[in-house]
Amino acid sequence: MDFMGAHLAFISRWKETDNDLCRHSMSFILHKAIRTDFFESYLYLLEQIPLVKLYTLTSEVINGEKQFYARAKDFYKDVSASEEGMMGDFIELSEIDIEGSREFLKKFVGGTGKTGTECALDCGCGIGRVTKNVLLPIFETVEMADMMEEYLIHAHENYLGNDADKIETYYCYSLQDLTPPVKKYDVIWIQWVACHLTDRDLLEFLIKCKASLKLNGVIIIKDNMARKGCRLDPDDSSLIRHIDILKNIIYRSDLKIISIEKQKGFPEQMVPVWMIALNVTHS
Ligand SMILES: C[S@@+](CC[C@H](N)C(=O)[O-])C[C@H]1O[C@@H](n2cnc3c(N)ncnc32)[C@H](O)[C@@H]1O
Repeated sequence: MDFMGAHLAFISRWKETDNDLCRHSMSFILHKAIRTDFFESYLYLLEQIPLVKLYTLTSEVINGEKQFYARAKDFYKDVSASEEGMMGDFIELSEIDIEGSREFLKKFVGGTGKTGTECALDCGCGIGRVTKNVLLPIFETVEMADMMEEYLIHAHENYLGNDADKIETYYCYSLQDLTPPVKKYDVIWIQWVACHLTDRDLLEFLIKCKASLKLNGVIIIKDNMARKGCRLDPDDSSLIRHIDILKNIIYRSDLKIISIEKQKGFPEQMVPVWMIALNVTHS
């Protein structure tokens, strides 16, 4: 938690700046926009990226589109509809990732008080690597959501083969615009895409997913987690957050963390990948 020191120091400086200097200036407007989108992450981002540049990379709206999302769309236009594309050129880790996911998922499925096996939703599914290898072997039907039509078409026409019959719906939506059906899913899987949502949109999406779970349903987030603070990759607009930042966002959604596990077997020099299982608190 050594980053907390820097964080607190920054907060006190920011408060002063906020109150005494910036209230009537342009920078106050930029700060406010970024803070609204990234309420848990913005202090860490401001420590690394100058305010105006950060604003143009994230919260600036051009032609009705927030630049954070426009940049991600631009990036994925050039990413091939293949397992290599989905793994960002770490294809050799796909098997280990899938094995880790299967083991983690087993803990919550089948048996008394556990989740059922009727329907799962794969969010930011890409071509369906997780759908095919982790979800379809367990669930009767799966639904898939991704912003890139090309990936969904490839999933349906090629990648999933005969299993494509078990896909009930393809949602070609950005997750920030998607409202999944109410009380429909036993499991909602969110892998390597929470990083592509602003803090605010991730929170709102988690709240919508909560309403989408059946009794005993589980949401699983699997993503890269920073060792310190958080880091924005301006190429693909991904935000690698420290697990505590993600936990703060989850806390606001009123979901309960029921299990957290680090993906084993990935090279130490890589950013750690964690799996977090959430469900609805019944008090
Ligand atoms: C690194 S790939 C991971 C794909 C898949 N989850 C997997 O593990 O194989 C990230 C995926 O997220 C999708 N994506 C990125 N931002 C998104 C957004 N805002 N809404 C929906 N999908 C998004 C991309 O199109 C891409 O398919």
